[in-house]
Amino acid sequence: MSLQDFLASLDALQCDAQSAFDSADDAESFEAARVAFTGAKKGRLKDVQKQMGAVPNEEKKTAGLKLNEVKSAIQTALETAQSRLGGGDDSGVDPTFDPTLPGNRPIIGHIHPITQTINHLMEIMGRMGFEAAEGPEVEDPWHNFVALNIPEDHPARDPLDNFYLATAAAAKADRNVEGEQLLRSQTSTVQIRIMEERQPPIRIISLGRVYRPDQPDATHFPMFHQMEGLLVDKNVTMANLKTVLRVFATNYLGDDVEIRFRPSFFPFTEPSVEVDFLWDGTWIEFGGAGMIDPNVFKAVGYDPDEVSGFAFGLGVERLCMRRHGITDIRDLYSGDLRFLRQF
Ligand code: PHE
Repeated sequence: MSLQDFLASLDALQCDAQSAFDSADDAESFEAARVAFTGAKKGRLKDVQKQMGAVPNEEKKTAGLKLNEVKSAIQTALETAQSRLGGGDDSGVDPTFDPTLPGNRPIIGHIHPITQTINHLMEIMGRMGFEAAEGPEVEDPWHNFVALNIPEDHPARDPLDNFYLATAAAAKADRNVEGEQLLRSQTSTVQIRIMEERQPPIRIISLGRVYRPDQPDATHFPMFHQMEGLLVDKNVTMANLKTVLRVFATNYLGDDVEIRFRPSFFPFTEPSVEVDFLWDGTWIEFGGAGMIDPNVFKAVGYDPDEVSGFAFGLGVERLCMRRHGITDIRDLYSGDLRFLRQF
């Protein structure tokens, strides 16, 4: 093939490619032109390139320079058409990809409503200077009963009202009562543990699980949570107790919440009260409270003539349920994500 013929077919190619790309008016005609001219297998550019082998050696240089010119002219025509038609598809993006569809949502973990409540309660009480303390869920009778002024024959210690551990039954059969253990039935155990370790002044709360063999229904579950509060200092009064609980209740439930004490009995407080909050026009009991009984101070080695204090125990589920309008405690522990995702 002569140089002349080669250059002529390059000109023809450039001319045809230019008009094909210029007249492409949709993705389809653009793609047809792309395949016809620059296609790797059957494209005309490829064909012409092959013909260069037949050009005499001494003219190959001229031929090559022209070939490169034509190549880049075709590339420019292609890119111009592409941007005119809105991108084309050499961006590596799947043309079936629809950027307007909602994406795949990653499954993100979520904090259980009771844990959220616990964090919230710690935050409110923390602002009043109460430090969070912890105690074990597997307890001994000393911390769950004896030091709390609950004697051996007290009905609260009935095996039917507590989860004694199997090893404890065996220990009892051996009359080795010291080895007895149970799942704590109240967080008041933590009062004892903290007072055994520290000297007054003390200002703590303890939030955690407690266990009682109750038949589950809308308001009972064999495992639930309590918030225990303990304040020990000099000259502590019931007015201090009521103030702390009122400030707590208005922070957690709202400014219009009212608080009421009803006389009650707990072995470890004297006097003792039931604590009710007025919520949406109804009085609801949230827990118990009172001034620490002198026998409890004696059990932990404090002098009841020197110090005084108060304690309270509130039901965490009850607080959480009231605040969020949950009506069945079992929903909290069903593991049903359709329920839990709402909080
Ligand atoms: N521990 C009591 C209960 O579980 C509540 C309570 C705590 C009462 C502290 C008085 C003082 O019912």
